[in-house]
Amino acid sequence: MGRAGIGAWIVMATGLCVLGGCAGNSPFSIFADSTKSCTEMVLQGDIQMVATTREQRFLGKVPESTARCLGGNRAEGLREGPWLDWPSYWAAGDATSLAPARLLSNAKVIGPNAHGINAALYELELQRIELIKFNLFDNNKTYKAYVTGRDGEVGPVLRTWPEMRLPRSHPDFIAVGGDQMQVCRGEFIRFRTLTGICNDIRNPLMGSTHQLFARNVEFDTTFPDLGLNEMTRNRHGDRLSLLKPDPQIISRKLFTRAKLRPDRCQDGYGLPGGAKEAECEYKKAPFFNVLAAFWIQFMTHDWFAHLKEGHNKPEWIAVGCATQLVESIEQPVTGKEAEKLGCRPGDKIDVAYIAEDTKPETFMQGGKVYLTRAPKTTANHVTAWWDASQLYGYDELSGKRVKRDPKDPAKLLLLPIREAGGEGDKQGYLPIFQSGDPINPEWFGQEATAFPDNWSIGTSFYHNVFAREHNAFVDAFQRQAARTPDGDSGLRNPVNPDHVIRYREVTPNELFEVARLVVAAEIAKIHTVEWTTQLLYNEPLNRGMNANWNGVFANQKVVAEALKEVVRRLNDTHDAKKTNSLYAALAGGPGIFGLGNRVYDGVPLVGLIDPNKQDRWDLKNPEHVNGGVNHFGSPFNFPEEFITVYRLHPMLPDLIEFREWNNEPNVIRHKVPVIETFRGQATEVMRQKGLANWALSMGRQRLGELTLQNHPQFLQNLKMSRLQSSTQQIDVAALDLIRDRERGIPRYNEFRRQYGLKQLTSFDDFVDARVPKESSDRHKQEQLVKTLREVYGQHPCDESKPITEAQLNDDGSPINDCLGHPNGSLIDNIEDVDTVVGWLAEFRRPHGFAISETQFVVFILNASRRLFSDRFFTSSFRPEFYTSLGVEWVMHNGPGPEMMEQGTPNGHEQPVSPLKRVLLRTMPELAGELQGVVNVFDPWARDRGEYYSLQWKARPGAEDDDAFANNRR
Ligand code: HEM
Repeated sequence: MGRAGIGAWIVMATGLCVLGGCAGNSPFSIFADSTKSCTEMVLQGDIQMVATTREQRFLGKVPESTARCLGGNRAEGLREGPWLDWPSYWAAGDATSLAPARLLSNAKVIGPNAHGINAALYELELQRIELIKFNLFDNNKTYKAYVTGRDGEVGPVLRTWPEMRLPRSHPDFIAVGGDQMQVCRGEFIRFRTLTGICNDIRNPLMGSTHQLFARNVEFDTTFPDLGLNEMTRNRHGDRLSLLKPDPQIISRKLFTRAKLRPDRCQDGYGLPGGAKEAECEYKKAPFFNVLAAFWIQFMTHDWFAHLKEGHNKPEWIAVGCATQLVESIEQPVTGKEAEKLGCRPGDKIDVAYIAEDTKPETFMQGGKVYLTRAPKTTANHVTAWWDASQLYGYDELSGKRVKRDPKDPAKLLLLPIREAGGEGDKQGYLPIFQSGDPINPEWFGQEATAFPDNWSIGTSFYHNVFAREHNAFVDAFQRQAARTPDGDSGLRNPVNPDHVIRYREVTPNELFEVARLVVAAEIAKIHTVEWTTQLLYNEPLNRGMNANWNGVFANQKVVAEALKEVVRRLNDTHDAKKTNSLYAALAGGPGIFGLGNRVYDGVPLVGLIDPNKQDRWDLKNPEHVNGGVNHFGSPFNFPEEFITVYRLHPMLPDLIEFREWNNEPNVIRHKVPVIETFRGQATEVMRQKGLANWALSMGRQRLGELTLQNHPQFLQNLKMSRLQSSTQQIDVAALDLIRDRERGIPRYNEFRRQYGLKQLTSFDDFVDARVPKESSDRHKQEQLVKTLREVYGQHPCDESKPITEAQLNDDGSPINDCLGHPNGSLIDNIEDVDTVVGWLAEFRRPHGFAISETQFVVFILNASRRLFSDRFFTSSFRPEFYTSLGVEWVMHNGPGPEMMEQGTPNGHEQPVSPLKRVLLRTMPELAGELQGVVNVFDPWARDRGEYYSLQWKARPGAEDDDAFANNRR
């Protein structure tokens, strides 16, 4: 256990308080429990502190007495194995995880349930702080300065980097300062720029289109297939290459859904005419719907893209179905075997783009040799900002695909189609690409939008919804302008900052850009407080995500404002410890959103209680405009590892259960294959059947569980005309593995060690010990473990070979090839497991987690960094940029005062969710259907039951819904 001094105690205390929602009580209330275990825990000092070195970090495991104190005997009994301990604490699951009723057990701020939740939150906060401390590796050549420091400052407090200047070749080079100090000003800082430059006004290039992806793992652990150093060679022997183990064989043995009625599924292509007799079985998550699956695809199109205009490098490679391991020896796959497995040796794919593959330079620090970047790098071909670039564009070409309304250029063009349908239909539908539009020919026939790749009914849905939302904001603003033409809109132009811009003066172009800011912020809010809280459906995460956005002191404005000021000042100091560890922990108090968007004089806490205090934030002061961002010493971009954990294709069903909102919504009328909505066909069916019917259909249907043998069949058999192969088909599940290998993602076990999670020592560790031994679920898990062993093989281990520098064994010795097994024994090739395969195989997950804990740690780090680094979500979230109406719209989820949801879902009073408000505005005809919906991503007809229940039971009125048919029998 790591121990530390008083500084770390402060972090611990604030961490508990910050994420624990312990407003009003002592953060040390955890110690107030009188049980023997809690006393022991305190006396022994078994509280993990922020680690000083990488090998000391918190691995999510606590001592026996701590587990007993925080979760009773059950938590203690579940400590075995590599998995996180906090999910077994009191109140971290459903009603069965609540402490047995006794005095104080249900109290909100003290008692076992509060302790369980607060401790879980403390551990999550500790993980986040350590992730920030140990897992930032920028590929844009700033890493050396991060390690060695610069001009007397240590790396983690650096705020500007020469590498983030616009280069001489950039058209705006002179405008931002040329060879002098570069600072963006004037028009460049008003709104989100097309290519994402000037978000950070002192690092103009950061996050812009074509910047290199970062890494979250040490550079020399990337590209394990290349065997570039002794450690990777020890770890994997000669067992790995791009096609070893064979990716199509992995896909067919470990990813294919059970085919109960292949004749009714037809490889995911369903039956003609969308016949409802079609059946493609899949494992379903009861608490997450198909809208949630497409939401995340819609998000990833905003955040990252390795492809350029839907293309990779014009060079074609085979993609496997060639070899398989038989008793750990590689054998060719015969034609007959290929047929039986369903794989295709004739498939080919275009090679991934690589930005640099020259040998990286090295440097020395503290006697250790470091690489300056990964052996190969890749570029992100969209902006890394959460700027709705999928809707509005990320470069000149994509910007040209976005159609404005010629009659009102503040609006996006929406056409009158299906006007006789529901009320929302009157708001219109996106237009279709015209000849002359700059598109890849495969996109012909689709709705016109900036990011058109891999289009289907899901992307069509969200692009239409948010185009309507954009126009709804413009309409509301214009109505306000008509009512108060001389009123102050709140907007200012940094070119002339003292000029008050009245409503009537706001130009259509300005209004368009304001609407983009508002829509992007709404999307970020939906993702943070609505999508993620349903993805991670339990109380600690509900509090944690709301804390990220609103702060835990959301209802205590004075405390929140005071903390905001403390955090802002921490950002002014140059003490690495304070600015990073404390900053990250404390920021949860006021919330990350809006950090630094107020500036007060005087001693922070005293100043804030002063009723006459004045906000001194000033548009003329670049420190105020930019002062809320914090990159923790490493310029912001997504790490390559982030893409890996977003390979969420199993979430997709093969068939969409189509319903009609005004014609017995409980009845499934058709089963529409998702593949029949691919590309231009999506646009056709969108217009034919209408947005509201698709909302209802995807809102009621459960998405696919992220687990083994659950990939959609249509993606394993995807036909794409660009493919230059005999089959013209590709197995996207196999491609997911190939792309990760091309981009050098460490394999699963090292991936976990790098992120501060415990390693597995055999495939058996995947089995969930909570599942009863004789049950069919346990049997299925054990079968899959056997298949993992067959696919990845075993080898006799050699304990003289150390395999990692990221962690040590419990006794302080280096971890070696034997992973604790006797020297020379046959051990599982657990080190070789592709990371996607590994996280899909995690059968044991925290309650209500649609993802695995390995994916989750990647999110903890990067989801908050994406807010911390963006000026428009922190210090520039102000009326000067968003207008007063825009600020209100984002804060209140729409116009007017905040609307509250009925009742207290899971014990909380909560506003009507942001996406529910968007759907009510864009499809008012769904008001009845949405009435009982608390979170738009929870299946709409499900009864949410009590405290974080995952039951699949119909809500009143939906008892005869076809989706609950099995439950009725
Ligand atoms: C109809 C639906 C979908 C289709 C047809 C589709 C198709 C594809 C294809 C063909 C690729 C490979 C591109 C390449 O590397 O050459 C890909 C990549 C990817 N897909 Fe999907 N996909 C769909 C839905 C989703 C969903 C729901 C998610 C959820 C997050 C998702 C996440 C990803 C990610 C993260 C990548 C990697 C992107 C990159 O490398 O930049 N996809 N998809």
